Amino acid sequence: MDERVAVFGKINVDTFLYIDQLRIGENHMCQQTFVDIGGKGANTAVGLAKLGIDCHLIACIGNDAISQSVLKKLEKSGVDISFVKSFNTQTGKTFVVVESKGRNTMFHILGANSYLNPEMIDWTFLEKSKAVFIQLGIPIDTVREVVLMSKRNGKYVYIDPAGFVDESFLEIVSYADTVAPNEVELFKMTKETDIEKAAKKLLSSGVEEVVVKMGSKGASFFSEKTSFHVDAYEVDVVDTTGAGDAFNAAYITGKMKKLSQRNTLKLAVAASAISVTRQGTSSASPTKEELLEFLKKIKEEDLIAVL
Ligand code: RIB
Repeated sequence: MDERVAVFGKINVDTFLYIDQLRIGENHMCQQTFVDIGGKGANTAVGLAKLGIDCHLIACIGNDAISQSVLKKLEKSGVDISFVKSFNTQTGKTFVVVESKGRNTMFHILGANSYLNPEMIDWTFLEKSKAVFIQLGIPIDTVREVVLMSKRNGKYVYIDPAGFVDESFLEIVSYADTVAPNEVELFKMTKETDIEKAAKKLLSSGVEEVVVKMGSKGASFFSEKTSFHVDAYEVDVVDTTGAGDAFNAAYITGKMKKLSQRNTLKLAVAASAISVTRQGTSSASPTKEELLEFLKKIKEEDLIAVL
């Protein structure tokens, strides 16, 4: 079996508008704009490839003018795009307004992402992968089938629950080895307001590990046996968009390299710290060299030694 990661999720074209502060109903002057490849699927796949992990992206793209250059860029960054299918519609799009403190507000057009149905899945990905990343926010039947088939075939399954709608999604989430929500998603999924209680509720549903992304507060790990927290590293925040996806990619990298739980979480927190210092999404995630340099700066020698 191949040591690859199958990544299921969205491909978007992200257009960024950098402004001071968002005031609904008013006109704004943009300091800058920026266009990047986005979507949690594409971002996580690019993040993995930059960290030297082989991955194939299983996703849908449109046939509009921009789709070919998106595919070329994904391929250039090392992502296997042979499972990406093209549809006669527009490519998914996200418009991201980023305020001066890095906070973002997004507007989405699903476009071709809505075609990621179970019928379009080429199940040979199972022979080619050891691990599977999947986001919610794509058709839920696809998530269900992919998660169930992947578990039946002994794969490690990591779910990013962005796109969680209601309780009916919980059954699928419960099959995951790792679920990685942010605080808002965690509380929405569990109807709790305390992180520990909420994480324990998810664990009791059958999830092996719950990893809570907390932005400037770092991240916490919970399993039946243990729990611990890793603080965020101090950096100058420019744009937080996509930091969770850089986190996903680094966390899965730690898993593929069989790092300890603590080192895996530290690696993910470090990758998201680098990501928030840069504009954009997929282009903000670090390469392996950049991550090593950052770890050196913050004196994480033990982690460098095992990478
Ligand atoms: O996680 C960030 C991503 O969410 C962006 O790239 C955007 O496309 C949205 O899907």
